[in-house]
Amino acid sequence: VQDVQAVPRTEGYAGTAHSARPHRRAVVMTMGALHAGHLSLVARARELADAVVVTIFVNPLQFAPSEDLARYPRDLQRDLALLSGPGLLGPDDIVFAPGPEVVYPDGDPVVRVSAGHIGDVLEGVSRPGHLDGVLTVVLKLLHLTRPGVALFGAKDAQQLAAVRRMVRDLDVPVVIEAAPIVRDEDGIALSSRNAYLSDEERGRALGLSRALRASGSADQIRGTARAALAETDVDYVALVDPETFAEVPADFVGEALLLVAATVGTTRLIDNGPVEVR
Ligand code: PAJ
Repeated sequence: VQDVQAVPRTEGYAGTAHSARPHRRAVVMTMGALHAGHLSLVARARELADAVVVTIFVNPLQFAPSEDLARYPRDLQRDLALLSGPGLLGPDDIVFAPGPEVVYPDGDPVVRVSAGHIGDVLEGVSRPGHLDGVLTVVLKLLHLTRPGVALFGAKDAQQLAAVRRMVRDLDVPVVIEAAPIVRDEDGIALSSRNAYLSDEERGRALGLSRALRASGSADQIRGTARAALAETDVDYVALVDPETFAEVPADFVGEALLLVAATVGTTRLIDNGPVEVR
């Protein structure tokens, strides 16, 4: 683990001059408790850049007081071991795992990024201010690591859309690259929060990925998805335009994005996937 000052300078950096990779540096931002979903982002970063920076920081700003900040799983040694696996980090790469006193030396930041109306729908209804906290730390981590490309998972579709919009609206000099959702064999999307689930709860949590197999008209899809979530406490089922995140009308035909959020026991889970609306 090294502080940001140790990020290698690109001048004279071995491999840079004749590299076929499009970027000198890629960043993958995480909150740790790494799993194969995170590692897929790192593997992709490896292909896109000569040097990879992985950040591990459980960002207090994006947790509401009622949420799981205190119990969020933290195991830096395990994360570092996973990151040194084959095809992942090498000697020229960096893990930046600061504490809150490094990221927020003056306490909570006075000036923050607002996700605007993107932060008010879907995740924003149950988690007000969450996406503002995400965007604020993402912008800070971009400034601290100065990558050419930053990778984000499609698992957090609304987060990805908000980051893309921030980069466009604020002219942030970085390329945003999305990576597909990595799932377990049973279909469940990998998430650090899956660790909270008992075996029985995990069975019920399978409803989220099952809900995404819904087909038919817009209303049929919404209905089938809701039925698949019967053993969960449903937060939302949304069938939206993937660009605007606006709900599609009942007579919509074409490709849409189905997003679900539900609580199982005390664990809140999200998932999403594309659906063809007929
Ligand atoms: P975290 O939940 O740790 O996720 C880090 C990155 O991994 C995000 O881009 C997320 O979309 C991606 N990811 C998580 N599970 C995935 C899966 N099953 N398949 C593919 N990608 C997956 O998202 C955050 O942290 C934070 O909000 C952060 C962006 C780091 C800001 O604090």
